Amino acid sequence: MTELTLPTKEAIDRAGGLIRKGELVAFPTETVYGLGANALDEAAVRKIFAAKGRPADNPLIVHVPELTLAKPLCEITPSARELAKRFWPGPMTLLMKKKPTVPDVVTAGLPSVAIRIPSHPVARAFMAAADRPIAAPSANTSGKPSPTTAQHVLDDMNGRIPMIIEGGACQVGLESTVLDLTQAVPTVLRPGGITPEMLLTVLDEVRVADSVLRPLAAGEKALSPGMRYRHYAPKGKLWLVKGSDEHVLSRLQALYDLAAAQGHNARILCFSEHLEAMGQRRCACIGRRSEPTTVAAELFKVLRQMDDENVDVLYSEALEPSGIGLAVMNRLSRAAAFQSIDADQE
Ligand code: TXA
Ligand code: MG
Repeated sequence: MTELTLPTKEAIDRAGGLIRKGELVAFPTETVYGLGANALDEAAVRKIFAAKGRPADNPLIVHVPELTLAKPLCEITPSARELAKRFWPGPMTLLMKKKPTVPDVVTAGLPSVAIRIPSHPVARAFMAAADRPIAAPSANTSGKPSPTTAQHVLDDMNGRIPMIIEGGACQVGLESTVLDLTQAVPTVLRPGGITPEMLLTVLDEVRVADSVLRPLAAGEKALSPGMRYRHYAPKGKLWLVKGSDEHVLSRLQALYDLAAAQGHNARILCFSEHLEAMGQRRCACIGRRSEPTTVAAELFKVLRQMDDENVDVLYSEALEPSGIGLAVMNRLSRAAAFQSIDADQE
């Protein structure tokens, strides 16, 4: 039903034709795979919400190949231009005031629109062939971790969309940084590959939304609708184990041993540096702590694997929430429903 195709010239041209006809195409980007439609075609955009089972009040990112093509869609401020010069094409999304050309279905009726210029060569060839701005959320079923391989997309979307373009594993592995430029102080709503530290090389001031590392309080308004929804959560119960190295490792072992003795299909999500210390216990490696970009690249794949293996209890190590570590901890904290265990406490 769904064609999974290599990005040949012929396939890319056909993908562009599908978009112009109002169909959906999944395509690789440097962050995660996207599920694209013509952003100016309301009926096509509605198909995205249907295919993902996505709530209609969660707005979409509009992808364009270059900044001039964003001009009809939004009001580009001087700081947007500066950021664009430095970080586009790349894993950054900017929220700017929308122009009437953008249908309300794309922005869920909000006055701002999210714009991104991806760098992945296949995404760029696809956008050029489509010759339309592409509205695209991550190509997963709503609530699941975003897809970082074409196989992940096929697992979620088989039979629901006509075409998936294969582009290998995504390099960043986490969704783009969403920066709201409509606030008095530019605000990171979702951390990603372009870190607050990097943004501060261009901007005088950057805020990180409180809800990045903690749950919304009762009655608190989400700056980004996506933050209201349960996300990234594996089927099993995930606990983050934090604290000093020595205590974390021994606590991970003890928690695992107890869960295994109780008959659980448990796993330790651990850094490659600590695999050996875990002995015979069943672990899933989430990359190298010394290179946090490897953790970003591995995380969603591992969370999906845990579901495939019907793991019901997971204990995970944590990263420092700085640099790309902030994005990793945002996704992990949400996957753990913000539950953590302090290994330094008895
Ligand atoms: O890396 C990415 O950003 C990927 C690739 C495909 O580009 N896309 C992606 O889209 O992750 P999605 O829809 O899964 O996440 C977009 C996030 C959501 O949390 C959404 O609520 C927020 O951006 N968003 C989009 N438009 C917004 C707006 N106008 N105001 C506030 N938040 C917005
Ligand atoms: Mg998503």
